[in-house]
Amino acid sequence: MRTHRIALIRGDGIGPELVEAAVAVLGAVTGQDYRLDYVEVDAGADTYRRTGTACSAENLELLRTGVDATLKGPVGLPDVRLPDGTEAGLLGGVLRVGLDLFANIRPVTLLPGVSSALAGRAAGDIDYVIVRENTEGLYASRGKGVGNRWAVSDTLMTTREGTLRVCRRAFELARERGKSGKSGTVTCVDKSNVLRSHALFRDVFREVAQDYPDIGTEFLYADAAAQALVLRPHEFDVLVMENFLGDVLSDLGGATVGGISVCPSGNLGERVAYFEPIHGSAPDLAGRGLANPVGQILAAALMLDHLGHHRDGARIRRALDTALASGRVRITAEGAAVGGPAAVADALVSLLDEESR
Ligand code: IPM
Ligand code: MN
Repeated sequence: MRTHRIALIRGDGIGPELVEAAVAVLGAVTGQDYRLDYVEVDAGADTYRRTGTACSAENLELLRTGVDATLKGPVGLPDVRLPDGTEAGLLGGVLRVGLDLFANIRPVTLLPGVSSALAGRAAGDIDYVIVRENTEGLYASRGKGVGNRWAVSDTLMTTREGTLRVCRRAFELARERGKSGKSGTVTCVDKSNVLRSHALFRDVFREVAQDYPDIGTEFLYADAAAQALVLRPHEFDVLVMENFLGDVLSDLGGATVGGISVCPSGNLGERVAYFEPIHGSAPDLAGRGLANPVGQILAAALMLDHLGHHRDGARIRRALDTALASGRVRITAEGAAVGGPAAVADALVSLLDEESR
């Protein structure tokens, strides 16, 4: 039987209970034609506290060359800080830049039985993907801001090469989604009316668009995009943008589909990839049976897609839709999952078992 080697970063706070739930759900769809072999990787804020590094060089190398994909829980603990005052265990820079994972794919989907913060929206009305550039932009400055006692400055860096590859990825994704009935449109989001770095982003986007005559394009300034994602979210398909904008607008998108706790993401390079929810580690919720594992479980489904097992990724998404629509899994207005991660995993595993019987 074919085996995929998967690294598990269980993470901090609610991370371990979320990853546990996702692994249980993966177990219900795998094991027939292929299996997942897990290798535990110690990384994050607690790791930093114990060892002085958030992810060792050996582990980074393992993630780069020793596994087929990584499933990662949220990391970070508010009191674990670097001497410069920023959080120590976040891994964003370490993994995304370190492994050159230039495309951060963030689907924003309104699921059945989940209420949107927007009035009058129902499941299916909101279904787009933010493609966030993941290795440069303003966060190229991560941990490197120039400053002294009186002033600090961070630099936003846009490269032609970096923009080319992320825009291509966005157009490929739109083409892929077009096959399942989506509009096949990519929206370029930037502030090219103000920033030269974003003007370069837009120029390169235009250039890439010429190679995809079958895909429609739209241009929006980021402030207008924030408004549009609230007023007409149903019109979007794929949006591509600079790192910092993608970070902010993906949380805005999350708010429109029941909160960031239901939002998964994939960090993709040419070959290496890891999958995680877009939210943080919420240490105050850990172990209380309140955490919502939906974003983590959907991240696991994205990982199956990436490994070429689309059918099983889709089975997980369908089981979740069924569970939410029937009330077997319930998300509160505050975004908590009733019964916590274990209850959600149990419900999905029994649905998936019923289906395969
Ligand atoms: C995200 C997160 C991270 C980021 C933080 C935790 C460093 O907000 O994945 O969106 O800034 O990218
Ligand atoms: Mn974020």
